[in-house]
Amino acid sequence: MTIKPLIIFPNPLLREVSKPVAVFDDRIVWLASDMLESMYHASGIGLAAIQIGKPLRLLVIDLADKDKPKKPQIFINPEIVWTSDERNVYQEGCLSIPNYYADVERPKKMRLTYFERDGEKQEIEAEGLLAVCLQHEVDHLNGILFIDHISRLKRDMVIRKFRKRARDMEECVAI
Ligand code: NI
Repeated sequence: MTIKPLIIFPNPLLREVSKPVAVFDDRIVWLASDMLESMYHASGIGLAAIQIGKPLRLLVIDLADKDKPKKPQIFINPEIVWTSDERNVYQEGCLSIPNYYADVERPKKMRLTYFERDGEKQEIEAEGLLAVCLQHEVDHLNGILFIDHISRLKRDMVIRKFRKRARDMEECVAI
């Protein structure tokens, strides 16, 4: 398991649409392990493969409390097949948009199909934090970020802030 550097906004990779996993081999297991390690290192609760630069439809999530045993979950080729009309607001953040949080409204409940590592298809119904997290991560697979769900005014502010941050970091490297 290796901790990989995270792709940070406004890196254009985050806007790529990820491709389905076609072969369920050891490489997927290794990639998921690297994703989990990178996610734990950054104190996150969910990560999409594109966030470590791999445009594959693969997610990892761990919603266990920090002082409890880890409960890693791996979702291969996840697909949202149903969402409730009832909606909910949660404050979200993203490891690719560090230190920025905003309220996001999404469907309260959802159903998701996905594949396990052995290629077996599963279907789950989720609500609460799991539903928020799964919708946020599936968005990543389609090149969508949580800031796309907030007001244009707030989004423009975040975009400006992170463009400046990227420029400042380039200047640092130049010196
Ligand atoms: Ni995210």
